[in-house]
Amino acid sequence: RTVAVILAGGTGTRLGLGIPKQLLKIAGKPIIEHTLAVFEAAPEIDEIIVLMAAGHIAEAQRIVAGAGFRKISKVIEGGDTRNDTTRIALDAIGEGDVNILFHDAVRPLVSARIVRECVNALWTYAAVDVAIPSADTIIQVDENDCITDIPVRSTLRRGQTPQAFRSPTIREAYRRAEGDPDFAATDDCGVVLRYLPGTPIKVIDGSDENIKVTHPVDVHLADKLFQLAAAQAPRLTDHHGYTEELTGRTIVVFGG
Ligand code: CTP
Repeated sequence: RTVAVILAGGTGTRLGLGIPKQLLKIAGKPIIEHTLAVFEAAPEIDEIIVLMAAGHIAEAQRIVAGAGFRKISKVIEGGDTRNDTTRIALDAIGEGDVNILFHDAVRPLVSARIVRECVNALWTYAAVDVAIPSADTIIQVDENDCITDIPVRSTLRRGQTPQAFRSPTIREAYRRAEGDPDFAATDDCGVVLRYLPGTPIKVIDGSDENIKVTHPVDVHLADKLFQLAAAQAPRLTDHHGYTEELTGRTIVVFGG
């Protein structure tokens, strides 16, 4: 069984809209609805749990009902930090051996291909991350904003989500983290890296489109990317219509 956990417990302070950014409409729909649609449509996903920011549960439930999503089993309140939200999700899933994909609600352009490759990688690895190469040079600085190191770019990647785990692994990592008074916020792969050292964490290719809506410019980018995606869809329809006209039947080719 594979469960997708949609992390929507944040309030989007950097975007500064006064509402959580996952509720902002882009291309006619709230961001979180675009995100949920990808997991709802993915044949690899059996169940979806939504962790929503306090005070916005009813709104999330309205979105789920309005869109007619059927895989969503729970909409519950997230925690104060992203790690707390993950913990609450783990408790909600309970014991038992399942695959879990954690995904940022504010990455609405995640693709079916990325979801599929994460789930497939869980046959071999207990922890999976999604990342892309960095076009920019990444520099390390000290507290005075002076460079201390320039790591070799080819060894660096920019982490995205989903992050996928077999449940015993992520549960055990969080169990150990809980006993650590020095626990510092990190993403979920970071928790496995720190508390279950030696666990191989496979990295699969993300995509440039899988952006995290964080700053105002990202809203424009995401909007443009949805426009581009929509512009490609009618072309397919035209093509099928044309095929039908020529042959009297529609031939649908699933490529890829
Ligand atoms: N998130 C969460 N629970 C939290 C904090 C964040 O589930 N307590 C989720 C966000 O809703 C988002 C994802 O984690 O989908 C990535 O976090 P980020 O982009 O940092 O979102 P926010 O915390 O909402 O943004 P900001 O840091 O600007 O406040």
